[in-house]
Amino acid sequence: MPDLKSRTNIRQTTAADQPAVLNLYRRVASVPGGLARLAEEVDETWVNEFLTRACTDGLSLVAETKGNEIVGEIHAYTPMLFCFSHVLTDLTIAVVPDVQGQGVGRLLFETFMRNVVEAHPEILRIELISRESNRKAIQFYESLGFRREGELGSRIRNVDGSLESDIPMAWIRS
Ligand SMILES: CC(C)(COP(=O)(O)OP(=O)(O)OC[C@H]1O[C@@H](n2cnc3c(N)ncnc32)[C@H](O)[C@@H]1OP(=O)(O)O)[C@@H](O)C(=O)NCCC(=O)NCCS
Repeated sequence: MPDLKSRTNIRQTTAADQPAVLNLYRRVASVPGGLARLAEEVDETWVNEFLTRACTDGLSLVAETKGNEIVGEIHAYTPMLFCFSHVLTDLTIAVVPDVQGQGVGRLLFETFMRNVVEAHPEILRIELISRESNRKAIQFYESLGFRREGELGSRIRNVDGSLESDIPMAWIRS
């Protein structure tokens, strides 16, 4: 059977995808150490809000297998202030745990960046934040042109009570 990446289609998210995206984020959040949110903090209100913002003033893409299962999503949106009108903020990416490490995240993120570079010349900066211990994710973002912009000390409380830094990162159009 061809590998998962070649059986996966990347497309723009639609309102009809909301239940599948909610399910995806619940599954991803149930594994500690990745997303900031706990699984019980992933609810319809949050998913509806970010999809509405990203589909209106930003970009949301899903990775869908040939069997029509949504296995990944990426989004970011422009804040509603003139001074940030060239920015995409709060970029978040998630791939379901059982298909992580098979190239879907890179395919999603590269497609997202290509779309911004080619179709959104007004976007000059993209921002995200990653917990410091999510080293694989930080290296992944660096490989896509994101740079660290400091350290937000003790910003993240882990489920065991320990604290760790959050690392703000940004891509800036050259
Ligand atoms: C981070 C994440 C989106 C990457 O998607 P993926 O499909 O697993 O990634 P890929 O297989 O395309 O690999 C891309 C890179 O991510 C890294 N990576 C692979 N598995 C990973 C994992 N489980 N967690 C974090 N990074 C991973 C690899 O180093 C890889 O680098 P390479 O392409 O140079 O080999 C995905 O692992 C995920 O959803 N993790 C949990 C949620 C999370 O951490 N989100 C980011 C919050 S800031």
